[in-house]
Amino acid sequence: MSNNREHFNTQIGFILACVGSAVGLGNLWLFPWRLGQYGGAAFLIPYLLFVYLIGVTGLMGEYGLGRMTGKGPMGAYDHVLRKRGFLFGRTMGTYPVIITFLITIFYSVVTAWVVRYVWEAIFPSFLDKPDFGAHFNELFETSPAIIWLGVCLLIIGLILGRGVTKGIEGINRIIMPALFLVLLIMIVRSATLPGAGKGFEYLLSPDWSQLTKPITWAMALGQAFFSVSLMGAAMVVYGSYLSRDTDVPYSSFLTASFDTVAALAAALVIIPAVFAFGIDPAAGPPLVFVTMPEVFKNMPGGYIFSMMFFVGVLFAAISSLMSIMEVVVDGFMDQFNTSRKFSVAIVATLAFILGIPLAVDLDNLSLIVDFVSIYLMPIGAVLAGVVFFAINPISETRNEINVGSKYPVGKWWEPIARYIFIGVSLLVVILQMLYQVG
Ligand code: PFF
Repeated sequence: MSNNREHFNTQIGFILACVGSAVGLGNLWLFPWRLGQYGGAAFLIPYLLFVYLIGVTGLMGEYGLGRMTGKGPMGAYDHVLRKRGFLFGRTMGTYPVIITFLITIFYSVVTAWVVRYVWEAIFPSFLDKPDFGAHFNELFETSPAIIWLGVCLLIIGLILGRGVTKGIEGINRIIMPALFLVLLIMIVRSATLPGAGKGFEYLLSPDWSQLTKPITWAMALGQAFFSVSLMGAAMVVYGSYLSRDTDVPYSSFLTASFDTVAALAAALVIIPAVFAFGIDPAAGPPLVFVTMPEVFKNMPGGYIFSMMFFVGVLFAAISSLMSIMEVVVDGFMDQFNTSRKFSVAIVATLAFILGIPLAVDLDNLSLIVDFVSIYLMPIGAVLAGVVFFAINPISETRNEINVGSKYPVGKWWEPIARYIFIGVSLLVVILQMLYQVG
């Protein structure tokens, strides 16, 4: 166990950081769209089942593994595998770190769009733009795209450079409550728009036939994994900053629950507003960047609400990006024994250089986002499950997770972790591959 590792100051600080990681573009940008695509309220059945059965189990595993070893994935996998005589744990643990570096790159590109929108939304003339579709295309013009990517990485770099308690915990303590407040105000605004009722009808009239299609289940699983940040990386690293009196099962349950509340809130903000102005809700990725500004343009008080909305999206995006980049920074410090500030500078610079080709071309970006989130991330979650639920003796894993818990999990939990979690995550990987190829 490493001794001079930083720790979160309080359990609530840790939970807010984890909620910060979980609640991100996946909730605000992807979830309302998936809900629209896969049957409205009917999609909630597989989604909630997976978040609570598989997501919470996976989170307990990742927090527990990080806390037990005091290390990110490379050190943690090495620790577990070495006890059993295997020497390839560290190599195995580089997989999630490398994948997380790829995520750092594309998540920074999209977060940079949000930073730019917040800056623009400060000026009332923002909503005078005749066509937000055209404005979206301007995001890919070379010089501004590069500059905004640089600004975004500078902000994240400055936060991470301050460390775990002052940087990550300190910022999340402010921006997470602020994000939930923004969502609440926005729900009331959307619900009171004339014509919003059609949006509620749409959300509340489930298309049950979607549940007979395997793709709906595959998408619900993939979305659940992405949304609670399961991939054997960020949540292991956050877990490694935990003290032993933190309640892991309770924290896992709260992370999943706040994440779900944020996803549902995003749907309640976006869908009724979109319907009130007669726009197609399955508009996909441009929903936040093209459709919502069009909505604000026509809404009473649009200037204030657009600013508030984009600030909320920014808080969600940066708190997730922090956790993503922290995995790479931690891996770098661990591997090269460098200081935090130096490691942050190197990782941010590399992400900036490699991010440029994605920042200037939407096609490159979509390709890598799909490939990483559909194939590579779930494999990371399976690996973490195999290490902590199958290679590490499961009773030891359960005891470790229960340390400091007011709500310890019983023996019944062991087969869920060992067979259902690993089996179902493997199934996600296979199903996603079957359904996404071609
Ligand atoms: N959970 C984040 C979202 O919903 O946007 C994305 C994410 C964060 C994925 C951290 C993976 C990760 F390690």
